[in-house]
Amino acid sequence: MPEIRKKLPPLLAGVRRSVLEIGAGTGLITTSLADWTPAEIFALEPSAGMRAVLLSRLSSRPELLKRVTVLPCDALSVDLDEPAEAVVMINVMYALEPDYRQRLWPVLAAQLAPAGLLVFTWRAGGPPPPHPLQEMASRQVGRHTYTVLSEIVESDDEACRARYLYRITEGAKVISEEEITGYAYRPGWDVLQRELAGAGFTQAEGAERLLTRLQDL
Ligand SMILES: C[S@@+](CC[C@H](N)C(=O)[O-])C[C@H]1O[C@@H](n2cnc3c(N)ncnc32)[C@H](O)[C@@H]1O
Repeated sequence: MPEIRKKLPPLLAGVRRSVLEIGAGTGLITTSLADWTPAEIFALEPSAGMRAVLLSRLSSRPELLKRVTVLPCDALSVDLDEPAEAVVMINVMYALEPDYRQRLWPVLAAQLAPAGLLVFTWRAGGPPPPHPLQEMASRQVGRHTYTVLSEIVESDDEACRARYLYRITEGAKVISEEEITGYAYRPGWDVLQRELAGAGFTQAEGAERLLTRLQDL
């Protein structure tokens, strides 16, 4: 996140009118986009749970409520009234199935004004190899400890299947445990380049270095 905060503002320096954010999540980037640019922000987020936090974050910043519109749809369904100057997609690529991703680029291209900017983060190096369940992060909240554990069950060239355990404990006692299994995708840069070129995108000067730097999100 600190890397994003450093690298994204200069890229968006010329943006004045509108930004489309794909997969806004809880709005961590959304409010920053609004701080960095004078533009109107369209924050697209398909998950109702994420949108609830996003809207709550926005209501704690009343001055932003006139400038940020939350779009409750998935990325393929986006249809803005006017083209955006920039599309920003931070930490979302892993969630997009290859077929979906390929269909997404032309949709985003159609939402962009001529010479508009598409900025995304992406992790190089392909999917991680399988590993057993291990702790990723742990936070104390009052008397409870929230822990996220993950396991990579299997992986191939582009995809891996991951199992996540969300555990809440009080001392040695487990209060709740929720398990989620899903796929994550890490396409190679050559694959992305081909797809993007096919949708009419050209790489901006300096962007490759930026993308490489941003991969450590
Ligand atoms: C890890 S979060 C990142 C949120 C935010 N961009 C950030 O960096 O804080 C990934 C987000 O992508 C969203 N997402 C997943 N699939 C999507 C899709 N097909 N279209 C739009 N958003 C999607 C998820 O709902 C989730 O909010």
